[in-house]
Amino acid sequence: MKILVTGGAGYIGSHTVLQLLREGHDVVVLDNLSNSSRESLDRVRELCGREAVLYVGDILDRDILERICTEHVFDCCIHFAGLKAVGESVAKPWEYYNNNITGTLNLLAALRDHNMKNFIFSSSATVYGDPEVVPITEECPKGVCTNPYGWTKSMIEQILMDMAYADREWNIVILRYFNPIGADPSGRIGENPKGIPNNLMPYVTQVAVGKLPKLGVFGNDYDTVDGTGVRDYIHVSDLADGHIKALSKITENAGLCVYNLGTGNGVSVLELVKSFEKANNIKIPYEIKDRRPGDIATCYADASKAKRELGWEAKHDIVDMCRDSWNWQSNNPEGY
Ligand code: NAD
Ligand code: UD1
Repeated sequence: MKILVTGGAGYIGSHTVLQLLREGHDVVVLDNLSNSSRESLDRVRELCGREAVLYVGDILDRDILERICTEHVFDCCIHFAGLKAVGESVAKPWEYYNNNITGTLNLLAALRDHNMKNFIFSSSATVYGDPEVVPITEECPKGVCTNPYGWTKSMIEQILMDMAYADREWNIVILRYFNPIGADPSGRIGENPKGIPNNLMPYVTQVAVGKLPKLGVFGNDYDTVDGTGVRDYIHVSDLADGHIKALSKITENAGLCVYNLGTGNGVSVLELVKSFEKANNIKIPYEIKDRRPGDIATCYADASKAKRELGWEAKHDIVDMCRDSWNWQSNNPEGY
């Protein structure tokens, strides 16, 4: 198939482009490189011997979208492009709503105008808010998001549902990612956060590499196994594979479908730290800090729907994720 991948130079995008190319698909990437670099796609080419066509441009720019959709006939669009820093979204809500929502509306308009109505969207477990029960199934109601970033995901999901309802020609797969970590086992591509990381695993790897002195653990008084927050960490290569499986769902003309992509296992902050230390034989100094505002105690997926309907399940365990995250960070201490 020929696939348009927005945000394809980014963390999850580059891992997905690699798998798409390996599966023999043709890939066109549209990325404004606001949170990534060409280097990730150069390394993808080095890893698989094939390359994606890169357009450096913005989903806010309707002209480039029109041009790309005129120059290519796409079997599907996988839409990763977006801003994703939770704290920044609280400080700059307009920028987040504009980039993520206006950008997605522009993209959908261009695809619709060219009758290319197959679409896969990167959503997030954040749309569930603070879940009433875990594991979280797709039937659980969406909840109250704690930040504008989360609301952009929730609102875009609603837009997609309304569009699929109004026009049955759309085939849309919404993928709700749990917590992606890890990197391609080659250590050539991985997550490249700007500045001090907000998320747990990049913080841990930067402590391990000596860039940061110690990890702050945000709260140890939650109602969890050891009092620290529990999440469903998923290897980014498994996540990439989920998109490949979602492509076959698209070809079934099934309308709109929603899937959780997680492992189904809850892992606490301290359990992750211990796994990292064991997998890589490195000590991670940490101190307990106050809870982080907006955090929830526990979040993990019931991933059985994706297994049943997509034939997808995560293959990598937490030790693999810790090993591959460290392999990437230690080989690329300054990122790309
Ligand atoms: P990323 O920042 O590495 O990738 C996003 C890419 O989109 C970047 O390359 C960036 O340059 C590009 N981009 C941003 N705005 C753009 C615009 N207006 N036009 C063109 N390109 C633009 O992030 P990621 O972790 O790879 O996330 C990919 C998608 O998955 C995002 O939509 C994100 O919200 C979603 N998601 C990520 C996580 C996570 O923990 N990483 C969890 C749930 C959902
Ligand atoms: C966060 C976002 C979520 C987003 C996701 C992307 C918030 C409130 N939620 O989820 O919207 O989709 O990232 O992956 O920011 N932790 C520490 N110390 C740290 C960093 C994190 O103890 O330095 C803890 C957190 O309290 C949490 C766990 O580690 O219990 C995971 O945190 P993080 O990696 O930031 O992900 P989420 O909070 O689940």
